[in-house]
Amino acid sequence: MKSLVAVVLGVLLAGVAAQGKEVKRGRKVSKRQENCAPRQYGYDSVVCVCNATYCDNPGPISSPADATQFTSVISAREGQRFQVNTADKGTAPTDGGTIITLNRTQTRQSIIGFGGAFTDSTALNVYALTAPVVDQFVNTYFSEDGIKYNLCRIPIAGSDCSTRPYSYDDVEGDVDLVNWALEPEDTDYKIPLILKAKAASPGPLLLFGSPWSPPAWMKSNGMFNGSGYLLPEMWQPYSNYFVKFVEAYEAAGADMWGLTTQNEPLSGFDENWGWNTCGWTAEDMRDWIKQSLGPTLEAAGMRRLMLMVDDFNRDTLPWYVQPMLEDPDCANYVDGTAVHWYSDQWVGPEVLDETQELFPDKWLLHTEACQGWDVGGADSVQLGSWERAQDYVFRIIENLNHYTRGWVDWNMALDLMGGPNWANNMLDSPIIVNATADEFYKEPLFYTMGHFSKFVQPGYQYIQSSTTDGDLQTVAFQSVDSSESVLIVLNSGESVKTVSVDDGSGSYVNLDLPVKSLVTLLYKL
Ligand SMILES: *[C@@H]1O[C@H](CO)[C@@H](O)[C@H](O)[C@H]1NC(C)=O
Ligand SMILES: *[C@@H]1O[C@H](CO)[C@@H](O)[C@H](O)[C@H]1NC(C)=O
Ligand SMILES: *[C@@H]1O[C@H](CO)[C@@H](O)[C@H](O)[C@H]1NC(C)=O
Ligand SMILES: *[C@@H]1O[C@H](CO)[C@@H](O)[C@H](O)[C@H]1NC(C)=O
Repeated sequence: MKSLVAVVLGVLLAGVAAQGKEVKRGRKVSKRQENCAPRQYGYDSVVCVCNATYCDNPGPISSPADATQFTSVISAREGQRFQVNTADKGTAPTDGGTIITLNRTQTRQSIIGFGGAFTDSTALNVYALTAPVVDQFVNTYFSEDGIKYNLCRIPIAGSDCSTRPYSYDDVEGDVDLVNWALEPEDTDYKIPLILKAKAASPGPLLLFGSPWSPPAWMKSNGMFNGSGYLLPEMWQPYSNYFVKFVEAYEAAGADMWGLTTQNEPLSGFDENWGWNTCGWTAEDMRDWIKQSLGPTLEAAGMRRLMLMVDDFNRDTLPWYVQPMLEDPDCANYVDGTAVHWYSDQWVGPEVLDETQELFPDKWLLHTEACQGWDVGGADSVQLGSWERAQDYVFRIIENLNHYTRGWVDWNMALDLMGGPNWANNMLDSPIIVNATADEFYKEPLFYTMGHFSKFVQPGYQYIQSSTTDGDLQTVAFQSVDSSESVLIVLNSGESVKTVSVDDGSGSYVNLDLPVKSLVTLLYKL
């Protein structure tokens, strides 16, 4: 069992080491261009257009050094995007305002990070742009000037967000994996993009791999999709396949931080499941991890990687992870439970609490979510929908209030149709690429991710927050030395809200939250 403290400390130290470098880079070229270049597409808000010469990036934003002041960062349906303002704290709450209470004695989980996924579709879309626009994309997601993504997922071979189904060894019966090889999607697209992202990041970029399907010939149904499971005689070859993936990515310079054992494992028992999957019962997964995958990774020196199980929706909690985490021999290899958001509207967040309480030393992390997954067709991409962003951020806040240690969005870039996707499972994304125009559109979703990723640093600790206004939703964190507070407030209401933040320090953060807005507040104690 690796300690999360050690992991987080490593992240922090590496972050400190990177700071000197960052200053130099900042002097050389400033990418700071503050204003959104808005475009309206008929939804309730706008996208911000980025091209070879222009992309809105707010630059570094931190809390004021002066503890009598606070900084607010606002995005809203009416068009504000990371609008920054610094003002004095008050000595009393605003008359008639809503109080938001922070309670620093009630702390919980610390943050691992926020980010998205280097899918095949993401990398193919990005490299359909010219080099300067690729750089804008990388800068806006990863740099100190942009939204500082630090935790990203990599599909191990193909997913639905690919142009074809494939694995790294499609030679039937090759149990020794002599034909195992990365594909052009990795070598020409994903890895080059990951290396650029790493170079642009001010701190460590934590990468974890997730498989959708083993080679089809290793499965009971001989197919990437539909209902099928890994044949028992393929357990060991498939464990070796994981090691080869980590070795190949690391040899290319993409150091890995973690792995999930299988994306959405229960989808692999659905004969109508249209894209890459593999069915695992909890008991088989438990036995495979303890008998094969865990020892194989360990023998390869890869127990250093965070191993996460489940990688599926709330409705699998806690029952699906119980057989694995209740078995000491399996649990010994497992660090956390990965969760997706696709059943959040049907299953309450209490199952996260229940899972955390059952297994207090295994963390929870959200590893996939996106909008547009439940509509299909032409509505998959809604350029400029604030409504979608609000619905999304509601769930991020809710899950952070129930022990999750971070949020990894799905595709970082899709095309105008929400693809490519070989199984026609079109989706929305925070960035939509228009290759014909050599430009990309930053959706409201991009900014809602940024309200967390840019400000809630790795290692920041959850502190309890509450309010009585049902239109408001809050989540709060403090820095490791507890000197800085970061509070995120969503106003889902159609009216301006006057709020006062009371953290028991005797001074108050007083401000007005615009209609339909998301606000990050930063200040020192
Ligand atoms: C790039 O965007 C900027 C800001 O919107 C605009 O002024 C400029 O004309 C655009 N360049 C191209 C080539 O479209
Ligand atoms: C903060 O939480 C502690 C522990 O539950 C409680 O005793 C205290 O009253 C709370 N303080 C406020 C201001 O709510
Ligand atoms: C599974 O994938 C194949 C293509 O490899 C496709 O023809 C088939 O329709 C898919 N199955 C389902 C259930 O969608
Ligand atoms: C994409 O770019 C092309 C070429 O500039 C343009 O005709 C088209 O309208 C753009 N699509 C969208 C959705 O903006």
